[in-house]
Amino acid sequence: MKQYNVGIIGATGMVGQRFATLLENHPWFNVKVLSASPRSAGKTYQEAVGNRWKMAVPMPESMKNMVLLDATSDIEKIAGMVDFCFCAVDMKKDEIKALEEAYAKAECPIVSNNSAHRFTPDVPMVVPEINPEHIEIIKSQRERLGTKRGFIAVKSNCSIQSYVPALHPLRKFGLKNVLACTYQAISGAGKNFDTWPEMVDNLIPYIGGEEEKSEQEPLKVWGKIQGNEIVKTDTPSITTQCLRVPVSDGHTAAVFVSFEQKPTKEEILKLWADFKGVPQELELPSAPKQFIHYFEEDNRPQAKLDRNLENGMAVSTGRLREDTQFDYKFVCLSHNTLRGAAGGAVLLAELLASKGYFD
Ligand SMILES: NC(=O)c1ccc[n+]([C@@H]2O[C@H](COP(=O)([O-])OP(=O)(O)OC[C@H]3O[C@@H](n4cnc5c(N)ncnc54)[C@H](OP(=O)(O)O)[C@@H]3O)[C@@H](O)[C@H]2O)c1
Repeated sequence: MKQYNVGIIGATGMVGQRFATLLENHPWFNVKVLSASPRSAGKTYQEAVGNRWKMAVPMPESMKNMVLLDATSDIEKIAGMVDFCFCAVDMKKDEIKALEEAYAKAECPIVSNNSAHRFTPDVPMVVPEINPEHIEIIKSQRERLGTKRGFIAVKSNCSIQSYVPALHPLRKFGLKNVLACTYQAISGAGKNFDTWPEMVDNLIPYIGGEEEKSEQEPLKVWGKIQGNEIVKTDTPSITTQCLRVPVSDGHTAAVFVSFEQKPTKEEILKLWADFKGVPQELELPSAPKQFIHYFEEDNRPQAKLDRNLENGMAVSTGRLREDTQFDYKFVCLSHNTLRGAAGGAVLLAELLASKGYFD
């Protein structure tokens, strides 16, 4: 497979650090540039991160002494050094939109973790096993931006990566109503228990903006390309409650669902077991072999035990049973900073690379 030079924009942050560790030994992607805010620019990666390193594994040796560039003022320089960039920055939404477009217009494709462009109609928001065909909208986006290579592709919010994969193969029965309560890890807020001690022995019943994202994003992921935009689907009707819980990594969702035609439990289990997407067919390097794992044990999946399944890229399900108000209920779990953030973006980049979008 062809090799690609890549940059990480926001390399010092929590998601940026995850990119650095995931890309350290990647078979196709070679990190050539790290960038962050003007506060970090000019420092080595090690100096700029200082005591903010949050990964369980050490900072990659090959990146420790790389000197950070300024993500906002070195755009042309960075674009000239790489084939594409990953982006995860903490800035205002309109600033992120402008920044990502500036890179695209400098002919540097952007694979983004940020939410700013998720609802831009010609920006694909992709879960590679679910809607890989949405990357075809990039042709329209390039026409709008006036670029040959440059474009923006985004991944969806981490909260939906647990329950949308489990619901997706069941769409053939007509998903009618979905209720999902999510129990989200503190790393989703860029924190651990040292930096957020108030979360020990606690639960916070509110995560700003999360319920809207959790209800709306699946409708774009399940949408269709029409002309030069992705048009959202209008079913199922989704309602959510998103809670922050004292778990370091791993978002759990308790899901209730009703169908137009109610399937049997066996049909659901078979569809989950058989579900393969394009990443599995193409054997992309970060793709889990089995995307959806079902646990028969009543007390699984558990965040601590099961979040790292298949390098944190698989989704775990369990407790599938009939419900008195909906047709079925079940529980699912995904690793929020791997499948739900940097890992999902790396898999999306692998899909784009395999389809020639960085050439
Ligand atoms: N944490 C998660 O699980 C998660 C999941 C999905 C999506 N996301 C999204 O990913 C993005 C990053 O999240 P995070 O948790 O990694 O945040 P973070 O730890 O606060 O890191 C923010 C990064 O943005 C950089 N930055 C801040 N201001 C900047 C500026 N003016 N110009 C250029 N770079 C700037 C920071 O650089 P300095 O170090 O130089 O300040 C740092 O590299 C956010 O949009 C977030 O919503 C996070």
